[in-house]
Amino acid sequence: MPDMKIEMERIRREPLPRRTAADIQERVSGLMARMTLPEKIGQMFQTTHWSGIVTGPEYDTHQTLEKVRKGKIGSFQGLTDNQVIYQLQKIAVEETRLGIPLLFCLDIIHGCRTTFPTNLAMSCSWNPELVRKSISVVAAESAHSGVNLTFSPMLDLVRDPRWGRVMESNGEDACLSSAFAEAYVRGYQQDNLSGYDTVACCAKHYVGYGAVEAGREYNAVDLSERVLRNHYLPPFAAAIKAGVKMVMTSFNTLFDIPVTANEPVLRGMLRGDLKFRGVTVSDYSSSAEIKCHKIATDDETVAVKCLKAGLDVEMMSNSYINHLEAAVAKGRIPATLIEEACARILTLKYELGLFDNPYKNIYADPEQNFQNSKYRVQAFETACESAVLLKNDAVLPLGTDRKIALIGPFSDSKDVIGAWGGKADWNATVTLKEAFEDAGLPFIHERGSNVYDGLDATAATRAAAAADIVVLAVGEPGNLSGEAASRTCLDLPGVQNELFTAVLAAKKPVVVVIFSGRPLTIGDWIEKTQATLWAWQLGTESGHALCALLTGARNPSGKLTMTFPRSVGQIPLYYNFLPTGRPYMPENPTEMFRTHYVDLPNEPLFPFGFGRGYSPFVYGAMKTDKEILKPGDAVTVSVDVFNAGTYDGAETVQLYIEAECFSVARPVNELKKFAKRKIKAGHSETFTFSLDSDDFAFWNADMVFISEPGRYQIKVGPSSAELQMTVIVLSLTT
Ligand code: BGC
Repeated sequence: MPDMKIEMERIRREPLPRRTAADIQERVSGLMARMTLPEKIGQMFQTTHWSGIVTGPEYDTHQTLEKVRKGKIGSFQGLTDNQVIYQLQKIAVEETRLGIPLLFCLDIIHGCRTTFPTNLAMSCSWNPELVRKSISVVAAESAHSGVNLTFSPMLDLVRDPRWGRVMESNGEDACLSSAFAEAYVRGYQQDNLSGYDTVACCAKHYVGYGAVEAGREYNAVDLSERVLRNHYLPPFAAAIKAGVKMVMTSFNTLFDIPVTANEPVLRGMLRGDLKFRGVTVSDYSSSAEIKCHKIATDDETVAVKCLKAGLDVEMMSNSYINHLEAAVAKGRIPATLIEEACARILTLKYELGLFDNPYKNIYADPEQNFQNSKYRVQAFETACESAVLLKNDAVLPLGTDRKIALIGPFSDSKDVIGAWGGKADWNATVTLKEAFEDAGLPFIHERGSNVYDGLDATAATRAAAAADIVVLAVGEPGNLSGEAASRTCLDLPGVQNELFTAVLAAKKPVVVVIFSGRPLTIGDWIEKTQATLWAWQLGTESGHALCALLTGARNPSGKLTMTFPRSVGQIPLYYNFLPTGRPYMPENPTEMFRTHYVDLPNEPLFPFGFGRGYSPFVYGAMKTDKEILKPGDAVTVSVDVFNAGTYDGAETVQLYIEAECFSVARPVNELKKFAKRKIKAGHSETFTFSLDSDDFAFWNADMVFISEPGRYQIKVGPSSAELQMTVIVLSLTT
């Protein structure tokens, strides 16, 4: 399509006006006064186009162009070819009655071309500012690749690593996930939607999807309203406060009604309580799926129920486009609900500047804006902060004086991007072996096996025996996590255990580097090796970052944001559980008639917040400036942390509270504050936190969000299980 390419090259990109809300409202009202009901409904339909370039037989089958021409499609999702995007936009602008531009949406969640660590990995940085910067890179590359809106951030709280989508999340904690929610929204939208380097974003999956029963994808969800409000809603509230423009309704049921058709959860909680004013979109055909949930038998009822519940845009199923008009005519649904939804969608298009320049994100050659060296540096730094050192018996960093045997299926694997890899360039991704070569390390390489086959135990043992230390790179292939990738077994798959046995036979110190989308049950590996670096899936700069961490060029600073279980049987396992009437006795784990297992301790393999570096950090005595906290006042909590090692490093101090006696049982620990700071070797830093009475609020027995007066313990430490400096009692009474 040469002509189209030339046209695309000529697209002008002057700065677009930043329109005020009043200006946009006036324009939307003016436009809507000229729109027919079917045109308004058209704005509420989002589809995709499967055919690549929109000519030829596929197009004829799907009749996409004709639908666009008639104003029957308001937005597209999943398109990646800029020429297709241009062609569709041109028709919308030049050939429809009112010239309303289309909105192009895509899932770019942890990197477009330059890929960053998976979202779960990035959360282990405990560094929202770092993630904000990284996401602004993702936004710029996305914007240049024809995307107006990305279906990210994923804000589902996750407590069950069997669920494959944990890799998209910020882990198990509401406070941490809320901080990241804000970082993502600011990174994508940068408070300037009409800019050329920003995209609008969509918080998903509202809500409760992370709690699918048994970790089985798309399964039902059963949460109490208090758990929902205390834990699952806050990250969405934070995203809304930061200005997120879209919210996606989740696949699951909540209170036995699919969320996409759940009026109390959408109009009630989302629009009412959380005051969300933007656009709601269904997840992929989740509206039509309410028939499978057996709460509708026909598509007109689907349309009526979903719109009544508060759904603006229907993604991929067509009950709105085919049935809403008739439903209005029959009096089943008021046209005002369509007006409201359409107004919200058009507002977003105005905010994005699409009426000022509908082609703003469409570049003839997006490649020139991808993967520049600054972006790769940002990806490298983020990867360095995302990996988590779980164990080190003084064998790391590697140094250059010991001969290394680099072994394992992930030693030279490009499968380190993780699910939802955007437009990742696998070839540009750096493997561990490539990074070892770049660093000039003395090493021999022997793959030893693939994940599922190709085991050569003899070669693996031989390579290990020939070296002073082994770096064994194993893991989960990328396709074992992500959507529709639930697992019942969380061991390393395939023949990797056999490979492990072969390596151990050489009786050399072993550093295991584990790539995965989720926590795995790897207690045996931890026990039998001298060091474990959890690599997650770190993206484009994976190899360079891991090499820098292994050699000490960078000091590991990541900390887990999901609890690692010892066994699948312990799941769901999370740090902020409620106390029981028969508390567990860690000193006597098998004591009868206490909450425990007869075959394993209750404790996880690694707790939430855990991670090591190359320097020990020594915590001083925690101080508070008052013992009685009055409403409207704040208490200052501070602690000195000393870097007692020889490596400069960064420590994340975590502050938790435990409520002593209230109207409902409260978690044993709740993260309330955290801060990550660099501390030079031999130096101390003072970490200071401020807590006001709002920080103690929760949904109480009367379902009121309140800070009840009473005694709290304030705890500070390096992880949820190492709160050495506990118990300061505060009171909230005046
Ligand atoms: C996923 C969403 C995604 C959508 C569009 C669905 O299957 O659940 O997270 O945004 O597809 O690709």
